[in-house]
Amino acid sequence: MIPLTLIFVSFAAAKATGFSRTVSPSSLGLRKEKLSHLHFYFHDIVSGRNPTAVRVAEAAMTNTSATGFGAVSMMDDPLTEGPDAGSKIVGRAQGIYGSADQEEVALLMVLNFAFFEGKYKGSNLSLLGRNSGYNKIREMPIVGGSGLFRFARGYAKANTHTFDLVTGDAVVEYNVYVFHY
Ligand SMILES: *[C@@H]1O[C@H](CO)[C@@H](O)[C@H](O)[C@H]1NC(C)=O
Ligand SMILES: *[C@@H]1O[C@H](CO)[C@@H](O)[C@H](O)[C@H]1NC(C)=O
Repeated sequence: MIPLTLIFVSFAAAKATGFSRTVSPSSLGLRKEKLSHLHFYFHDIVSGRNPTAVRVAEAAMTNTSATGFGAVSMMDDPLTEGPDAGSKIVGRAQGIYGSADQEEVALLMVLNFAFFEGKYKGSNLSLLGRNSGYNKIREMPIVGGSGLFRFARGYAKANTHTFDLVTGDAVVEYNVYVFHY
């Protein structure tokens, strides 16, 4: 039989540590939701002595797979205002991409955009999506954010600006549309 004191203690604890409640958006300082458009260029450098994306894992079959299935890379790619590598850095794309399709070239992208400039300096957006090598424009969901991007949701459109077939280095134009407060 469960001692009465134990029942009393767990009941009291449940009351005192209730872990959820409803709050008003204004209590978090949230006002009107707005839609923002961010435009920048993503530099994925895989060659040379200072790559910004490196292969961290692969499967035994990756080398014989037509799509490089199983290859996983970690990136810390600069984001610039213009397509030029020397153009002003506005943030970085930090995360992972992996070859996730055995039929066609398509990547699973999981990354955070960390912004260093302007209004969104110190705020971040999280992207999770499928990046198909066959589409000129790839659309990937923005699943959340932090700082000024709390409660963010939206999408990113990626359009390859330049791709070096020899080195594998790429510059990709990003247009990001997000709802946030
Ligand atoms: C795949 O090929 C690369 C380059 O030839 C080699 O360095 C690597 O060890 C190979 N990986 C596997 C798992 O066989
Ligand atoms: C956003 O990311 C940067 C870089 O990692 C970090 O310093 C900053 O604290 C993050 N901002 C928020 C609001 O979490």
